[in-house]
Amino acid sequence: MQELAGKVAVVTGAASGIGKALAERFAAEGMHVALADVEAAPLAAVADALRAAGAEVEAAVLDVRNASALEELASKCTARFGGAHVLCNNAGVANGGPTWELTVEDWDWVVGVNLTGVVNGIRAFVPGMIASGEPGHVVNTASVAGLTCAPFMSPYNATKHAVVALSETLRADLATVAAKIGVTVLCPGWVQTRIHESSRNKPGFEAGQEDDDSALGPLREFLRAKIEGGLAPREVAEQVLAAIRANRFWVRTHPDMEPQIAGRCEAVAAGKAPPLLVPTDLT
Ligand code: NAI
Repeated sequence: MQELAGKVAVVTGAASGIGKALAERFAAEGMHVALADVEAAPLAAVADALRAAGAEVEAAVLDVRNASALEELASKCTARFGGAHVLCNNAGVANGGPTWELTVEDWDWVVGVNLTGVVNGIRAFVPGMIASGEPGHVVNTASVAGLTCAPFMSPYNATKHAVVALSETLRADLATVAAKIGVTVLCPGWVQTRIHESSRNKPGFEAGQEDDDSALGPLREFLRAKIEGGLAPREVAEQVLAAIRANRFWVRTHPDMEPQIAGRCEAVAAGKAPPLLVPTDLT
């Protein structure tokens, strides 16, 4: 997709971090934006700021685990803007701990948001994007964790690997029906966002409650420091915009993490067990 001005971008998880930066970047490009997030007040603040800057904004407080809520947003986009052109399935959450200690609720939450949420976005918007016959693009936010397997992050790693597989398959499906819709899978390393505070959105979590990632132990502080020292979200958004224009599949933001990705791929190709990562390998 080359021409973005006047087109419509949908972003989930738009109230914070990478999603907020994507919304701002698309609006700056002259796109109309449809923003979704489970957090009402931060979403309203983002929507108000973009409207004040002159953008047309549709904002929906919804949980991406709810398929019908995303279908409703798709209907609103059709009624208000005539459809959607760029779909960013970006909402995501993280938790951690030894695989055998995480509860069924921990698993359901991360699988529901990180994987089913992406499926729900695709099911709600892609049929209309295909039917319009116009150029379009789907951006699914995975992670470097979709290409490597660091310890204590089973649900996150499993769902992000699934988002990479889903994106590859979607690309093949769209090619099979000759749709003019590109696919990008966004695999960032550390980015300065609130991902390490994900438990604020976990069902049953109450404001002021200590988050429940204590099983991470020392890893918790390590992750916090890495995220706080990470890439600015606006730089990630810039790379996504370039990938949409170039119809590029991968956006991998951290060249220093490429050796871990290559090491795993080489071991798979050679029929060897992938190298064991320890947290400090994730430089
Ligand atoms: P963030 O926590 O700042 O933003 C995530 C947004 O998703 C928040 O606004 C949150 O309210 C929303 N959200 C959470 N659960 C939701 C639900 N059920 N329905 C709708 N919205 C929901 O974190 P960040 O980093 O901006 O996360 C965006 C994506 O980037 C996620 O998929 C994350 O896994 C991915 N990512 C982040 C990295 C980082 O270092 N920050 C690295 C690699 C990937």
